[in-house]
This record gives sequence, C-alpha cells and structure tokens, in this order.
Amino acid sequence: MKTYLFLILAVAWIACGSPSSDSSTGSNESTSTRIDDGKGVGEIKQVTLTNPLNQQMVESGKAIYEMKCAACHRLTDQRVVGPGFLGVTERRKPEWIMNMITNVEVMLEEDAAARALLEECLTRMPNQNVSVGDARELLEFLRQNDGEE
Ligand code: HEC
Repeated sequence: MKTYLFLILAVAWIACGSPSSDSSTGSNESTSTRIDDGKGVGEIKQVTLTNPLNQQMVESGKAIYEMKCAACHRLTDQRVVGPGFLGVTERRKPEWIMNMITNVEVMLEEDAAARALLEECLTRMPNQNVSVGDARELLEFLRQNDGEE
C-alpha cells in the first residue's frame, strides 16, 4: 500500500514538477527576506475598489481579455494553458492580480503563489505589455466574472 502511494506521488511529480524547482535546491525560501502579504511583487501596492463596479471599466477590461488573455484563460474554472479565471478575485488580492498582469516575470521568480502555479501549469505566462490602467480594467472585468455587481 505504501509503495503504491509512493508510485502515485512519483507519477504526479513527473507530470507536474517543473525543471526549475529541481535546480533551485530550496535556497529561495531561506534567502528571501520579503514578508509575503499576499499582494505580490511589483509597483502595485494598494488598489482602491469601487462599489458598485465601474461598468465602463468592465467593458474595456472585457475587450482586453478577449484580445490578450482568452487564448490561455477561460472564464470558467477550466484550465487550458493557464488557470480558469472563475474565483480568481476570491483566491487573490487585487494587488496580486494586477502585479501578476503587469510584472509577470518577477512574480514567477519571487512570489510563492505564482511559482506554485508555474509548477502546476508548466508554461510561463508571457508578458503581455499591459499598462497599469489596462490591468485595473481587467481586474474590474474579473470581479464582474466572479459575480460582483
Ligand atoms: C500564453 C498563455 C497566457 C496568456 C496569453 C495569458 N496568461 Fe495568464 N497565466 C498563464 C499561465 C500558464 C499561468 C499560471 C502561471 C504560470 O505558469 O506562468 C497564468 C496565470 C495568471 C493569473 C493567476 C491565476 C490564478 O489562478 O491565480 C492571472 C491573474 C493571469 N494569468 C492573468 C492574465 C491576464 C489578465 C492575461 C491577459 C492580459 C493573461 N493572463 C494572459 C498563461 C497565460
């Protein structure tokens, strides 16, 4: 039974493990002094959310999503290349989402949650050259997708 479980774990590791995690030998955790506040790494430190949603921003965000994100992200919980967007505004802080969109290279190196996603998905999300303003509109659209009004 134990061997069996080990086998499953080994297979799962081969299927999902990223090559980069092998070479890093766990030094990342010990050298990092940043306190993980769940807001991610990047220039976005504080986002003020509007309530109700700004419908104009939702519309613009939707258009950007369709142009730059839909190839890899569904609006359901289904993963294609990247995770499905459903529930993302509940899983992540608004600042984290905007930093992930505008500063993805650094996030994938330095943010624990982003690195864990990379290990699952095995593909690096490319930098889409999204401005902070556009990222804010995308966030509004994602909030709407999660049922906010
Ligand atoms: C080429 C495919 C691709 C494109 C295009 C892409 N992404 Fe991603 N995205 C990914 C992958 C893959 C991940 C998971 C992290 C990783 O492996 O890099 C991800 C992760 C994310 C996450 C974190 C999701 C979670 O569940 O925490 C957000 C938010 C995100 N992307 C937003 C966007 C937005 C917004 C756009 C469009 C501007 C976009 N992405 C375009 C592939 C893509």
